[in-house]
Amino acid sequence: MNEAFWNHKKIFIIGAAGFIGSTVARYLLDFPGQFFIAGIDNLNDYYDVSLKQDRISRLQDERFRFIKGDICDAAFLEELFQRFRPDIVIHMAAQAGVRYSLENPQAFLDANVNGFFHVLEMCRRYPVQHLLFASSSSVYGEADHYPSAEDDSTDLPVSFYAATKKSGEVMAHSYAAMYGIPITGMRFFTVYGPWGRPDMAYYRFAEEMKNGEDIPLFNYGDCKRDFTYIDDCVEGIIRLCEKAPELPVPFEIYNIGKGSPNDLMDFVRILHEEMVNAGLVTDDYDLESHIRRVPPQPGDVRETYADTRKLQERFGYQPQTDLRTGLHWFAEWYGKRNR
Ligand SMILES: NC(=O)c1ccc[n+]([C@@H]2O[C@H](COP(=O)([O-])OP(=O)(O)OC[C@H]3O[C@@H](n4cnc5c(N)ncnc54)[C@H](O)[C@@H]3O)[C@@H](O)[C@H]2O)c1
Repeated sequence: MNEAFWNHKKIFIIGAAGFIGSTVARYLLDFPGQFFIAGIDNLNDYYDVSLKQDRISRLQDERFRFIKGDICDAAFLEELFQRFRPDIVIHMAAQAGVRYSLENPQAFLDANVNGFFHVLEMCRRYPVQHLLFASSSSVYGEADHYPSAEDDSTDLPVSFYAATKKSGEVMAHSYAAMYGIPITGMRFFTVYGPWGRPDMAYYRFAEEMKNGEDIPLFNYGDCKRDFTYIDDCVEGIIRLCEKAPELPVPFEIYNIGKGSPNDLMDFVRILHEEMVNAGLVTDDYDLESHIRRVPPQPGDVRETYADTRKLQERFGYQPQTDLRTGLHWFAEWYGKRNR
């Protein structure tokens, strides 16, 4: 981290109670600089609200203020931008979850399209030095080749979640082109780790193991994911913050992924070992007999695999944490929270 860059900055983290947003805030607050962070979140109940509140509790610092509110509320956002005039906006708030987008597509349209539009409008009316926003590997859809690079096609999303994330990228590009707002979009690849999301598969696997339950593997387990450890993801975000894209159209998209996918079954085996090591799963839980191979779910893709060269070439950064280390830290944290 370039500490001089952050000095005297006013930073908005939107979605600050979320998994990635709260970890970005924690990372920054671990440094001594004179900056100010306003963390914004509506604390919705898509998953356990107490987890969101606990993430915010970790951020107690005189340089941090939590503000509860909804990005779909234009008047609320306007008041906030007018009052604080942020330099850097890190926009992580979204309705996430591929499967939930089959149940409640409206929530995705509201937060990811309408809400993001309000954020873009505010960044136009109260000019910012740099807006960064979360996109997703899901925009690549069912790719015809791997790894997926930033200029590969994203025209054929297979979930409504992906469609709203792609819409966000397209809207953001137009604002960068029309108004010269420096904007960076980040396509995250299955981020996991401490303080993670209970709706994501790896977290549910951990719960199922702990409770002695069966583990359903979709697409009969034939599935690969480019699992990216949270600290690596945050390191990538911080580096990207420090260099805004330049004219003529100040807009860039980067993959943030490990760049080496794992079979889902290998992931589950390592998770199981780390859960056993952490004393969270009993010895008599036989993993293989608890695996249930079930059909694919609509919206899921078979594989995600990030081409990480753009981030590597321009920022000299490549996620490092291997799966065993990452899952070790996840299991340790999970144990402390759920024992
Ligand atoms: N975690 C991953 O693996 C992953 C992968 C790809 C993309 N992403 C994207 O990264 C971003 C952060 O993901 P995360 O895993 O931290 O998710 P998260 O759900 O933990 O965090 C999102 C936060 O945004 C808040 N929020 C949602 N709608 C809001 C609204 N209308 N107004 C204010 N706050 C609102 C939620 O309460 C939540 O705390 C999201 O945009 C997500 O789509 C995440």
